[in-house]
Amino acid sequence: MKKFLVIGNPIEHSLSPKLHNFWLKQNKIDAHYGKKLLEVAELKEFCQRIKKKEFTGINVTVPFKREIIPFLDKLTDEAHVSQSVNTILSEDDKTIGHNTDIMGFELALKYSNFDVKNKNILVLGAGGVVSSVILALNKMHANSIFISNRTKEKTLWLKKMFSKTEIVEWGEIPKNIDIFVNATSLGLNKNDSLPINFNKIGKNKIFYDLIYNPKETNFLKEAKKHKNKISNGKMMFVFQAQQSFFTWHNILPNIDEELLKFLYD
Ligand code: ATR
Repeated sequence: MKKFLVIGNPIEHSLSPKLHNFWLKQNKIDAHYGKKLLEVAELKEFCQRIKKKEFTGINVTVPFKREIIPFLDKLTDEAHVSQSVNTILSEDDKTIGHNTDIMGFELALKYSNFDVKNKNILVLGAGGVVSSVILALNKMHANSIFISNRTKEKTLWLKKMFSKTEIVEWGEIPKNIDIFVNATSLGLNKNDSLPINFNKIGKNKIFYDLIYNPKETNFLKEAKKHKNKISNGKMMFVFQAQQSFFTWHNILPNIDEELLKFLYD
């Protein structure tokens, strides 16, 4: 039986095992998908276990998407340009790092009919997933992308990779922003709030939160109250998983109402 895992820290909250095991059963594939809590110091040895084919595929989540890269044999173009790996395939004695977050974010924006072309976008956060968010926005022809993070030094790697992005102070909202993306972990706790003065922003903007649990963070609640369009990160999560499944099994699994209900109810 083939074995798959999602690794991260923390990992308890991950819905990946529930989703992948559903698809494995639906597609009659003899395999199991589990989860494993790891420390950063354990990554090297763990990658050797993947190389020895103990596992066929791995999903990587926070905070290892960048840290895992030195221990892999090869990267796809997407993983290389983003310097972020969320999917590993063990193939011909090689471990290959893929990135399906870029496609996941792009498909999620399209699913919600959020038009990015020529729009001005503010991305909050500078963690491992932000390079994927920027690449998807660039691919969809965004006009300008601003980045803001509590710890400004952590935006430097992004500025180096994407010289056209502009860094703004934490709490500062540039003029004429059309789309706000929360890529921080602020919102995971019910009382978390981001430094945004909604009264100054107007209405009919788009607010996208990468967080999917809770379903509505304060960021989204406030945005909705002020008559903006909102989405949580549920569909990005599902689409990145669909692309990972394809990478491992060469099958694009089904996404329908039944699946979404099973996953979130
Ligand atoms: P990593 O940086 O290890 O990849 P992450 O979970 O992907 O981790 O990123 C966490 C993001 O949430 C960071 O942008 C972090 O900001 P800092 O770089 O300043 O730490 C942001 N974040 C977490 N807690 C926050 C808080 N209380 N206020 C503001 N930003 C916060």
